Amino acid sequence: MRIEPIQKTDTTVFGAIVTGVDLNHLSDEEWEVIEAAWYEHAVLVFTGQHIEEAAHVALGERIGELEQLVADRKSVPISNRKVDGSAVDAESDHFKILKGNEGWHTDSTYMPLSARASILAAQVVPEEGGQTEWADMRAAYDALDNPTREQIAALAAYHSLFYSQSKVGHNPAKGASYGLNDQDVPLRPLVKLHPVTQRPALFIGRHAYGIPGLSESESEALLERLMVFACQPPRVFGHTWTPGDVVMWDNRCVLHRARPYNYDKPRIMRHVRVAGDPRTEAGIRV
Ligand code: OGA
Ligand code: MN
Repeated sequence: MRIEPIQKTDTTVFGAIVTGVDLNHLSDEEWEVIEAAWYEHAVLVFTGQHIEEAAHVALGERIGELEQLVADRKSVPISNRKVDGSAVDAESDHFKILKGNEGWHTDSTYMPLSARASILAAQVVPEEGGQTEWADMRAAYDALDNPTREQIAALAAYHSLFYSQSKVGHNPAKGASYGLNDQDVPLRPLVKLHPVTQRPALFIGRHAYGIPGLSESESEALLERLMVFACQPPRVFGHTWTPGDVVMWDNRCVLHRARPYNYDKPRIMRHVRVAGDPRTEAGIRV
């Protein structure tokens, strides 16, 4: 197996391409190497895997218990096509949440337990656009100036999918799926200590709003400033998908977003999401 770093800065290595391994037939020894590389690089790209659903699910379960996003399934389609192949209606909640994915976020932060890991497998991709990008929030934290670090040390933000979707013009009915029926809006510190590596990371993203102790506009300005600062080179890389690729990322220390493409073209991905550990990924009780 070969693990080639995508990016290296003074303080961090971020993203790696892993070759010489078959995720459909992964040994325990190979997994140990992958897991260690994952904690170091936070995002691992595996090309040409064509991973089967069962192997995809099993890979997630090596990390931890999975989030149940769809009834009776351990994986979820991130797809602009329905099961019958027809296009998802552009006015549907589903479509608007796909479009919402184009904003920087980390998965399930609006749920009581934010996600630990996500593993995305490409099945059908458009010829142009539709990349995914990641940003390293460990490196972003390390690059903050001291006054900003002090300013945010004790701050927290609420996380809501209603908030983030309303910012992109989508106001879904309560009681819809996708965690939109959730009544508890979790409060999460702006700095997250990674439970395994103990590295601090900025914990922000499009779902975050309403920092207690700040006015609405101060809160929005601070979160926007942090996001713009954090999500820029050398802390960002994008992956242009080829069918068969698999990417596994650590939601506790990176942000990600989908890039736009022509939605008339099919883009079909399979996603397995690993639930957070309640000891470290639960919101603060308020
Ligand atoms: C996700 C996600 C981005 C993409 O699956 O959680 O945000 O590029 N995907 O599809
Ligand atoms: Mn996502």
